[in-house]
Amino acid sequence: MDLLVVGSGFFGLTIAERAASAGRKVAVIDRRHHIGGNAYSEDEPETGIEVHRYGAHLFHTSNPTVWEYVNRFTKFTPYVHRVYTNHRNVVFPLPINLGTINQFFQAAYTPDEARQLIHEQAGEFDAKAAQNLEERGIGLIGRPLYEAFIRDYTAKQWQTDPTELPAEIISRLPVRYNYDNRYFNDTWEGLPVDGYTAWIERMADHPNIEVKLSVDFFDDSQPLNKKATVGQVPIVYTGPVDRYFDYAEGSLSWRTLDFEEQVLPVGDFQGTPVMNYADADVPYTRIHEFKHFHPERADRYPNDKTVIMREFSRFANRDDEPYYPVNTPEDRAGLLAYRELAKGESDVHFGGRLGTYQYLDMHMAIGSALSMWNNQLA
Ligand code: FDA
Repeated sequence: MDLLVVGSGFFGLTIAERAASAGRKVAVIDRRHHIGGNAYSEDEPETGIEVHRYGAHLFHTSNPTVWEYVNRFTKFTPYVHRVYTNHRNVVFPLPINLGTINQFFQAAYTPDEARQLIHEQAGEFDAKAAQNLEERGIGLIGRPLYEAFIRDYTAKQWQTDPTELPAEIISRLPVRYNYDNRYFNDTWEGLPVDGYTAWIERMADHPNIEVKLSVDFFDDSQPLNKKATVGQVPIVYTGPVDRYFDYAEGSLSWRTLDFEEQVLPVGDFQGTPVMNYADADVPYTRIHEFKHFHPERADRYPNDKTVIMREFSRFANRDDEPYYPVNTPEDRAGLLAYRELAKGESDVHFGGRLGTYQYLDMHMAIGSALSMWNNQLA
């Protein structure tokens, strides 16, 4: 073995694929029973509808190198992501755009009129001098839109009143003064035609790659454990950086999500893939309805059943799946301390969202793995 990769998410698999193609023998371990990390998906057994196990995953990128690379393993559907939100039982388009504004104010403002209105309403606070998230939000888009679409949704995401949250959590709240409600601005977007797992499996399908599942790097009874391998073979580690050092500098804090999945005896539950729930009296943040991610599969998906998933957000304990870095000042100090420790590890390369403690979209995880391969490992 020339390289050990810990974690079979997009970061780990990109490294493994590049190394294998360059003639290296690679072992990939993952503590889960499946490959693919958080992008893993599987067909719900009763309906055959593809469900993204760790939350909805939409691929998008403006990076030509990443786009060329991912197209080696899968084709993409022409899916374009759009999100709506339910506020007081009325549905509005997101991100906030002229359609949202005119529906909310029951008006027919032109782009310039809407811009002027939001500018006046935002004058209540100076966004740059804001003391907390609420002041920042009002200073960016004005109180009416902030209270309807941002305040309670953010409070649900963080289990914290926005007046107690740091202003830095939001740097901008984009408002579009036209009717464009495409969620992403990227050059390319789409979903893998035959699913995430098929894509991921093709990346790992190389004679030089051996994948071992249900293997935890910190389980000393496994042959490819930390004690047995560090210093013996180059390692790319994509698990949590604090866990690697046995929490010597404390735990880095994360938010996690709980998902409640249901198969319903209706052909169409909400008419769209993602519906946010903006208000405080609804405990979940959003509902996904997976069949709408693949309208091109209409002939193979049932027309009398659907799969929905409610998403609930909360702070993570050590045993929970870490999803979004909380990134408090203590976390940032802890991360710097871990980066110092990491420098002392012989030939261990920390990568991916857990290994670097940062939120990475899939294209960013793949892009940074390609850079690590080219700059440090090749
Ligand atoms: P990832 O977490 O995928 O993989 C790490 C792997 O390491 C895991 O499989 C884990 O089991 C394994 N591991 C950890 N510790 C280990 C140990 N001790 N021993 C062995 N294995 C270990 N992106 C995007 O582009 N569009 C989107 O719509 C979304 N949506 C989205 C929703 C939600 C809820 C989240 C949390 C994230 C997204 N993402 C996303 C981001 C996407 O999930 C992310 O880019 C990839 O998961 C990053 O891949 P990594 O390989 O870095 O981590």
